[in-house]
Amino acid sequence: MKIIGTGSALPKKVVTNDMLTEFYDTSDEWIQARTGIVTRRIMTDESLLDLAITAAQRALEASGLKAEELDYILCSNVNNNYVFPSLSSMVQGKIGATCPCMDIRNACAGFVYVMDLADMYIKTGRAKRILLLTAEEPTRFCSWKQRETSVLFGDGAAAAVVEEGGEYLGARVTTICNTEVLYQRRRLEPTPFEVEGVYIDQPMVMQGREVFRMAVTNCSKEISTLLEDTGYKIEDVKFFLLHQANMRIIKGIEQYLGGKPEQFPTTVQKYGNTSSASMAILLDELVRENRIERDDLLVMSGFGAGFTTGSCMLKY
Ligand code: ACO
Repeated sequence: MKIIGTGSALPKKVVTNDMLTEFYDTSDEWIQARTGIVTRRIMTDESLLDLAITAAQRALEASGLKAEELDYILCSNVNNNYVFPSLSSMVQGKIGATCPCMDIRNACAGFVYVMDLADMYIKTGRAKRILLLTAEEPTRFCSWKQRETSVLFGDGAAAAVVEEGGEYLGARVTTICNTEVLYQRRRLEPTPFEVEGVYIDQPMVMQGREVFRMAVTNCSKEISTLLEDTGYKIEDVKFFLLHQANMRIIKGIEQYLGGKPEQFPTTVQKYGNTSSASMAILLDELVRENRIERDDLLVMSGFGAGFTTGSCMLKY
């Protein structure tokens, strides 16, 4: 499998750390020191569907393919204002594709999971050309009364078109059942049989320190194992595209692996944590800035609620 086109789309509204001090007791110093985040983009009059369509169209344009040539759309999306149909089904019609579609909800590691699914579809001959899509609005799963979580996030979408050929060298995906460290609960329609207190609405709950620890430990180990399995060394890798949750997590993984700072590009300062869109947005930026060349070795690695991790390695 190889990547033949990328695209992304971000909301136009730039929200600075200082702007957040209007809503709760926080500061630019605290946010920058703890997370590295300076600004994030937050949706105003755009919808997540708009962003997803734009990202998909840009990736298709870059790939030179027409939407009708796609064999599948695989999408990573935690939530949007439709429970169903899937986001990929809605995007499909708007971009003029006719292929089957599927959404996965694997939190921030989702982009690696759709990459890995795409590789399996391509290897088994079930599909030749796949649109990988990720669109996330995490600013609407945390409470805007909680400074601990809402300062961390931004919205965004990104896509990549993949086709057969190239070298997708390997992947490791893991899930460790630890649902307490990171979750959001939503109440569905009440039934006359509902027992009071069982069904609750709860914005994002996060045990920040535990998430931090698991992210650094699990991603570092998974990447090390992937390198061992494929016989490559840290210095062979052009870029490690890590989930852009927090600058300190990225630095932690960099230090564990013993890589050089220039191998760990970041967008978290500008966009905050855009959940599973973060790695795909970063990929698109690097491609459009001509910082990635054909055959460069890339490692992607993300972590998220579940607790899931996903890492993969490919030659661009
Ligand atoms: N502004 C100012 N003060 C704050 C804020 C804020 N936004 N949030 C918390 N504080 C305060 C706390 O109330 C606490 O005050 P206290 O000492 O008086 O009790 C103090 O800052 C320290 O709080 P901690 O939670 O201990 O701070 P910590 O150093 O652990 O940093 C953080 C918190 C940034 C959330 C950190 O734990 C972290 O980065 N965790 C990883 C979480 C993450 O990246 N999640 C990504 C989302 S999930 C995903 O993508 C998979």
